[in-house]
Amino acid sequence: MTIDQMQETIERLCAAGASVLGDSAAMAAFLALREALETGEVRAASPDPASPSGWRVNAWVKQGILLGFRLGVLEEFPAAGLSFVDKNTYPARHFRAGDGVRVVPGGSSVRAGAYVARGVVCMPPMYINAGAWVDEGTMVDSHALVGSCAQIGKRVHLSAAAQIGGVLEPVNASPVIIEDDVLVGGNCGVYEGAIVRKGAVLASGTILTRGTPVFDLVNGTIIRATDDLPLIIPENAVVVPGSRAVSKGKGQEWGLSLYAPVIVKYRDEKTDLSTTLEELLR
Ligand SMILES: CC(C)(COP(=O)(O)OP(=O)(O)OC[C@H]1O[C@@H](n2cnc3c(N)ncnc32)[C@H](O)[C@@H]1OP(=O)(O)O)[C@@H](O)C(=O)NCCC(=O)NCCS
Repeated sequence: MTIDQMQETIERLCAAGASVLGDSAAMAAFLALREALETGEVRAASPDPASPSGWRVNAWVKQGILLGFRLGVLEEFPAAGLSFVDKNTYPARHFRAGDGVRVVPGGSSVRAGAYVARGVVCMPPMYINAGAWVDEGTMVDSHALVGSCAQIGKRVHLSAAAQIGGVLEPVNASPVIIEDDVLVGGNCGVYEGAIVRKGAVLASGTILTRGTPVFDLVNGTIIRATDDLPLIIPENAVVVPGSRAVSKGKGQEWGLSLYAPVIVKYRDEKTDLSTTLEELLR
């Protein structure tokens, strides 16, 4: 099959929607695309000097990758002492020494004593510690950590490298809680029992601890933890990492500023668009 024929076939199959399920010809086309991706014959984006960005996205290739998720069914991948389950269309690649690629061992782990609901997706490497609760439809992306006892709601996206702190001791300390439909952006850190209410969005790089004041520009308030309550991010707040000037002492004299999370808005249609997850990846 030439690349042009492959493109034509993939585009036709993608347009066919759910009717491709169980179609062996569709699976064959997808496997041909997967092989071509592995050999580098096709790419999802290619350099293109004529494009303003210097790159051209090959939409049909991305469509074909999504087709693989649609066609795939869950299958067990045995490995010594560990268990993996994923779409059978995307097994782990196998390399040989002759390929000249170093693949250092490592991966994901969910510790006994963690609740992980059906429909949760764990992208390697990630870790869910004992006592954590991860509810239905949540995505735990690469390098994300769900610390011990942290509570993660439904349809949450813990993006790449998001760190959700754990707390085992003191035993009465409340864990970090991330409620339903929250997006925790890449490289965020939520620690010390902070609560992120439903639908909130933490932009990449937002760090929340007990001692971090959060500046709500919409309501003109400063949110802090109190003796009785942890730091609480309100429902649907969109929090981005910002900074605030130090207003006294040496800090002021030296013109320093400190990190300050800022609520720039409350969730709207644009936020929904920015945070929409590709359902086919589930
Ligand atoms: C927060 C986020 C979802 C954008 O939400 P949005 O509702 O579309 O936000 P808007 O574009 O309307 O921005 C609102 C304001 O916040 C500012 N803002 C938005 N994102 C920001 C960010 N990450 N850092 C600083 N400021 C930001 C905008 O400039 C705008 O301010 P302005 O009106 O003064 O220009 C997006 O920035 C983000 O962080 N997404 C998560 C990315 C990620 O981690 N993905 C996971 C990969 S695995």
